[in-house]
Amino acid sequence: MNSPFTPEVKPVDFGDIVRRVTERLGPQAERAGLKLKLDIPPGLPKGLADEGRLEQVLVNLLRNAIKFTPPGGMVTISTKVQDSSILVTVADTGIGISADDLPRIFERFYKADRARAGSGTGLGLAIAKHIVEAHGGNIWAESTEGSGSVFRFTVPTAARS
Ligand SMILES: Nc1ncnc2c1ncn2[C@@H]1O[C@H](COP(=O)(O)OP(=O)(O)OP(=O)(O)O)[C@@H](O)[C@H]1O
Ligand SMILES: [Mg+2]
Repeated sequence: MNSPFTPEVKPVDFGDIVRRVTERLGPQAERAGLKLKLDIPPGLPKGLADEGRLEQVLVNLLRNAIKFTPPGGMVTISTKVQDSSILVTVADTGIGISADDLPRIFERFYKADRARAGSGTGLGLAIAKHIVEAHGGNIWAESTEGSGSVFRFTVPTAARS
């Protein structure tokens, strides 16, 4: 994962990607007793992205949100434009991440709490970071232990023609 890769980018509708991924993982969220909420403004400019890879980033974030949020909770995915980037936010009302763990969660194989983290390998966020950075974007997280986490990433917008 240290080798850089060049994503095959083209103008992509992030609203479409978010809708596709939430359709795919919707049943899983429902089984987990969670509400999924989308906030995609109309007229969002397109992002310059490799669609398949970007989908992978969202799947990894959404799977985590579902895995680490107890029943009755909510996961919100929103998109907006900020400067010349699309900003995507995945917020949950789950168990959160301690201040000690937070700086390390994007490392390969890092799991904050092995007992609760279940069967994952600890790679989902490392892969997400790798993909986002290959697009020239950033990814980061904020969290309050016990009340939830917010993951955000940016990807450059496509120049409007
Ligand atoms: N939304 C979240 N809420 C609470 N903790 C999280 C959340 N997302 C990630 N984490 C913490 O960060 C760790 C790393 O996440 P990552 O997605 O890389 O690995 P994983 O989910 O454990 O395994 P994998 O994604 O490979 O199946 C998790 O094990 C968990 O401790
Ligand atoms: Mg994961």
